[in-house]
Amino acid sequence: MRILLGVTGGIAAYKAVLLLRLLREQGHAVRVIPTRAALQFVGAPTFEALSGEPVSTEVFDDVPGVQHVALGKGADLVIVAPATADFMARAAAGLADDLLTTTLLAARCPVVLAPAMHTEMWDHPATRANVATLRQRGVRVIEPASGRLTGVDTGPGRLPEPEDIAREALSLVSPSLVDPTLVDPTLVEPVETPEPQDLAGRRVVISAGGTREPIDPVRFIGNRSSGRQGIALAQAAAARGADVTLIAANLAQDVTDQVEAAPVGSGPVGSARTAAGQPPCAVVRVESTAELRDAVRAAGVAADVVVMAAAVADFRPASTPEAKIKKVPGQGPAPIELVENPDILAELAHERLRAGQVVVGFAAETGDESGSVLEHGRTKARRKGADLIAVNAVGSGRGFGTEGNEVTILDGAGDVVGQASGSKREVADAVWDAVVKLLP
Ligand code: C5P
Repeated sequence: MRILLGVTGGIAAYKAVLLLRLLREQGHAVRVIPTRAALQFVGAPTFEALSGEPVSTEVFDDVPGVQHVALGKGADLVIVAPATADFMARAAAGLADDLLTTTLLAARCPVVLAPAMHTEMWDHPATRANVATLRQRGVRVIEPASGRLTGVDTGPGRLPEPEDIAREALSLVSPSLVDPTLVDPTLVEPVETPEPQDLAGRRVVISAGGTREPIDPVRFIGNRSSGRQGIALAQAAAARGADVTLIAANLAQDVTDQVEAAPVGSGPVGSARTAAGQPPCAVVRVESTAELRDAVRAAGVAADVVVMAAAVADFRPASTPEAKIKKVPGQGPAPIELVENPDILAELAHERLRAGQVVVGFAAETGDESGSVLEHGRTKARRKGADLIAVNAVGSGRGFGTEGNEVTILDGAGDVVGQASGSKREVADAVWDAVVKLLP
């Protein structure tokens, strides 16, 4: 295969040398196109010796050969590693001010970027927007690894290891080209079912699971929510390009296994994969309503969308003794006084932590003599003030803890704007379809 390896100006450029050698060892023809800044880190002779091909940075180096068009058109795959913030900004803007950016515009093959930069630069809204633009255009932007960066800082921003970049890039062109000894199936994204990237660049916060209100150090008031619908929402959003934070309250064991959630109270923990082959999402584990409220509000400040899929206890014990409540023979049970919990969804809907934020709730309802499931849902939609409420009927094996779900999506006025039944993932996608219509 004919591969163009772009190298841009960051300290991680030395890893491009290892990537080049790996690709050559696998039998690919590789032409290196560094930027001027990249040559400050690694000299052209190194790239020329290892690739066996000439190296130039400028469009003017071989004018009669119209290099940029010839290289771009003749390539089967373009990999840029490391990709700096500056390079991604230029690529997103469609600039063509050196041989690498001009070649990118001429290329019609898959393009893979492996960014490397300090965490602050990776998190900056300008970089997020550029990454989103590139992804929307079909460019594969690999998530940077987390760990030691240049200097004393650590965090997301490290260039992934050359083997990982090669595996992900080659799998994009043809899975059969990937050296089987390098394959970690959880890292290879399925390429045959491209999701719409209509949440690219959006930050979403999703609460999942059910809260536990402590009665004493060993007992709690809880509910049967497994967290499956919340996880499905996180998976669907991540697959559609969103930057996802999952606030996970006491997930069922099999669901916890899926997200590899962090220990309780550890705060946002960066990468946890939402499912095999899917982009990672940040997970914050909580137990009580108070913890859930704090976590949702902390993450919600920067969010474009907040979805409250967690089953939140309406009441909590007024006080929690530090010692276990003892059973005193002959005295009967000690009464537990309950106080009302704040309604997190209603607070978020009425306050709006961020201008233009879309707030979504779920309402698990049963019909009774005072109204149908939908009528109760409508009343709730108006009372809560959320932009969307997904109403589902619970009881008789439906809703809580089950594999499938059936929802009617209402807007804030209680009018039906969507309907979905099937797997929780299908329901999740229907909710995101409705959310996308409300995003500016
Ligand atoms: O009032 P009800 O519990 O049926 O409302 C369900 C919706 O409200 C869910 O989206 C749930 O996450 C949210 N909720 C909340 N805070 C509460 C109770 C429910 O955010 N105290």
